[in-house]
Amino acid sequence: MRLGWDDGSLNAPELARRAEAHGVAWITVHGRTRCQFYKGQADWNAIAVVKNAVSLPVIANGDCQSLSDAKAILSASSADGVMIGRAALGQPWLVGQIAKALAGEVYIETPIEHRQEAVSEHYDDLLSLFGIETGIRHARKHLAAYLDDAVSLGAQWSDAERLELLTSQDHHVVTKQLARLYRTIDRKEAA
Ligand SMILES: Cc1cc2nc3c(=O)[nH]c(=O)nc-3n(C[C@H](O)[C@H](O)[C@H](O)COP(=O)(O)O)c2cc1C
Repeated sequence: MRLGWDDGSLNAPELARRAEAHGVAWITVHGRTRCQFYKGQADWNAIAVVKNAVSLPVIANGDCQSLSDAKAILSASSADGVMIGRAALGQPWLVGQIAKALAGEVYIETPIEHRQEAVSEHYDDLLSLFGIETGIRHARKHLAAYLDDAVSLGAQWSDAERLELLTSQDHHVVTKQLARLYRTIDRKEAA
């Protein structure tokens, strides 16, 4: 749930109490109102009001993009966990990276070869799940996000190559180009 409809109706604590009374196992709260859409910043302190209203586990959500954000949102909200939405697009491994660090392990950026494996597995799974034709189309938004991640690590990829990767109707071409994309990253530089 969000915090409420607008600033004048912050009903998340009341909804959380009702959910608890009906046996809901846990709730996740995005620290914005419905009328805010995605404008402004998520209010992590306001999630604490929901946490204090109930005994069930509360998961805090909104604008968490890094380990430091995760620590800050947990501290501000007193929540039992954190949920990551948009920041996981193009880097789903971020969730595990942050979870391990919160559990006391050293924070390690996911190596490029693991990213490449994850992307390739995700692509193949989308084709298996939706069938080739629909899978190729469905995968494009994810490929665009993966491409941004690879470029942020130094991948050399032109606009023409981007267009080909994101519009090709041939999954063999996409698979081949994805492998090439990761080969263009200077691994010493990226490390
Ligand atoms: C592509 C996309 C799809 C979403 N779908 C849902 C949904 O089906 N149900 C829901 O409650 N929230 C949905 N959300 C909202 C997210 O779960 C999350 O609350 C919101 O994006 C704020 O978290 P973030 O800042 O980590 O992205 C969606 C968000 C995005 C970007």
